[in-house]
Amino acid sequence: MMKNTKLNIIILAAGKGTRMRSTKPKVLHAVGGKPILGHVLNCAKNLKPNKIIVIYGYGGEQVKQAFNTESIIWVEQKEQLGTGHAVQQAIPHLDDDANSLILLGDVPLVDVDACKQLIEGSQDNMVVQSFIKSDPTGYGRILRNNDGLVKAIVEHKDATSEQRKVNEVNTGIMAMPSAHLKSWLQRLNNNNAQKEYYLTDIVGFAVEDGINVSASIIDDEWSVTGINSKQDLALIEREHQQRKALALLQKGVTLLDPARIDIRGTIETGEDVEIDVGCIFEGSVILGEGVKVGAYCVIKNATIAAGATIAAFTHILEAEVGKNSRVGPYARLRPGTTLADGTHVGNFVELKNAQVGAGSKVNHLSYVGDATIGRKVNIGAGTITCNYDGANKFRTVIEDEVFVGSDTQLVAPITIGRGATIAAGSTITKDAPKNALTLCRAREQKSVLGWKRPQKVKK
Ligand code: UD1
Ligand code: CA
Repeated sequence: MMKNTKLNIIILAAGKGTRMRSTKPKVLHAVGGKPILGHVLNCAKNLKPNKIIVIYGYGGEQVKQAFNTESIIWVEQKEQLGTGHAVQQAIPHLDDDANSLILLGDVPLVDVDACKQLIEGSQDNMVVQSFIKSDPTGYGRILRNNDGLVKAIVEHKDATSEQRKVNEVNTGIMAMPSAHLKSWLQRLNNNNAQKEYYLTDIVGFAVEDGINVSASIIDDEWSVTGINSKQDLALIEREHQQRKALALLQKGVTLLDPARIDIRGTIETGEDVEIDVGCIFEGSVILGEGVKVGAYCVIKNATIAAGATIAAFTHILEAEVGKNSRVGPYARLRPGTTLADGTHVGNFVELKNAQVGAGSKVNHLSYVGDATIGRKVNIGAGTITCNYDGANKFRTVIEDEVFVGSDTQLVAPITIGRGATIAAGSTITKDAPKNALTLCRAREQKSVLGWKRPQKVKK
């Protein structure tokens, strides 16, 4: 027989997920920031199939919407009449010269290499993935013949007490030639304890047709664990995070506590990166060589260049931090912010769409939005760029080597010329010339001598 080079992957995702107690379809709940089904699709795509067929049911429109950029064949299973009935819906899409791999949409840690092995083994045969469970209650049991080949899978509810003693259980993941699968699916019935069309009954038809069925036992139980409840979701999330943390440690990243980091996306790291506890990384984050991230930072879609320090409790979203810069503690960088090399951003400073030049400092209690700041600028404590007039946003331009005194408002659009000094407490509404001192506040300081503080009235 010629080797099938095509691969049809069928992902079962029509189950309602009642035990999640959520209006959201089960497969859209996130593990590591990505929908459960997204993890399964990733695995599927790694196997380079010619078709990915997703069987959907409950909340279908929402599920399709979430993956509308993927090339998926969506097939609806209107009523959930069992796993066999689910796969039957895919029959029109199965290719006679392909192999089929069946995956479950609620098993996010599914293992690519184990799937490859199944596909390899299923050229003229059927292979089911099994695992050994100390308490196999609820699972389909793998029944083997004297040669070790599988003769049947019997569901828990249909099993005899003798069969229930078998600890080898069906994971639900299996592979076989598509042409055989099609013919077996057409022979299914629902004469069983649950009145369901069991996919597992195809094992019996394979045996009848003289096709060998083998079971490949997998050790890593996480890779076959499905999510049925929020408790399952939480446990899988921890396992996923533990794996991410381990991968970072193996790359040489120092994690002060690998159990207290959350990565919801991808993180790229240079050498000698150090991350303190409680940090959350989302989307795509790049940490350059020697970067230190303090405790409880939240960093999403950001690049932190070599040698930079992000101190505790800092939030960074869609921003770039230049080499050897210092940010935080308690700083907030919002989208569009770029800090050049050697900048300092201190506590309670918010920057939005602000480009800050090399060596500049915004150290305390400031809001800088829609601003271009040159090199070696010092922004004093409590400086506010007034970028919004209630209808439109305007830019503030601060040229190189400007010194802005504390408690200053810069009303945009405005340009502060190179080398200018703005006196503390000013509200600047017009451009300030270069190298000059500009101030705008009550001219004289007054003192009222002999003034008395109010006294508390005695009753
Ligand atoms: C199934 C297997 C059982 C195996 C167990 C592993 C059958 C008959 N039994 O059990 O041998 O040990 O998985 O977890 O196959 N689904 C649909 N449409 C349906 C029914 C299910 O899409 O009509 C999907 C579910 O969304 C889920 C998967 O199929 O992703 C498995 O369904 P589930 O009900 O969890 O499996 P069981 O029947 O309990
Ligand atoms: Ca199940």
